Amino acid sequence: MRQIAIFASGSGSNFQALVDAVQGGTLKANIRLLVCDQPGAFVIQRAQSAGIPVFAFRAKDYEDKQAFEREILHQLELEGVDFIVLAGYMRLVGHTLLESFGGRIVNIHPSLLPAFPGKDAIGQALEAGVKITGVTVHYVDAGMDTGEIIEQEIVRISTGETRDSLQEKIQHVEHYLYRTTLNHLFLTTGY
Ligand code: GRF
Repeated sequence: MRQIAIFASGSGSNFQALVDAVQGGTLKANIRLLVCDQPGAFVIQRAQSAGIPVFAFRAKDYEDKQAFEREILHQLELEGVDFIVLAGYMRLVGHTLLESFGGRIVNIHPSLLPAFPGKDAIGQALEAGVKITGVTVHYVDAGMDTGEIIEQEIVRISTGETRDSLQEKIQHVEHYLYRTTLNHLFLTTGY
């Protein structure tokens, strides 16, 4: 069974969906650790409620990205983690983590990549006036949302769609797409 760490920076609704899926038996993995770069983020309370260990840090307390990623690597090793799931982690992953976990880091992004990478993908889609957007699960490389695409699902933008209503539709899709995609990935990669 995969031993995963989830990296998040904010509210953690995707984190919660993955925790619920593991507890409900619909995601075959153990969540060993939450890594969070915002010590005040709500996702930390979610992890504590679920009894999941937390490594929270502030980037500015370290000399550079390499220094805090080395510490993260150490924490991952202590917990026996073999796969990293990014869920709203608002940082580019650096070479320290990529060298150790290359091909075993995935992310979820609220658009149909390569459209609307980076921050505020939902706002970018609304601003562009497109009628179709969606959700992408992809491998992580050194770029901004540029890694190989694993799975995508469409979300339609209705007339009069608001940011809140579109975000709700996208989150609904994210919460099951991440679980089903991870399950498929874990089965087909032999773990
Ligand atoms: C999600 O929309 C995810 O696709 C993006 O960041 C957001 C995180 O939301 N990478 P939450 O913290 O899981 O609610």
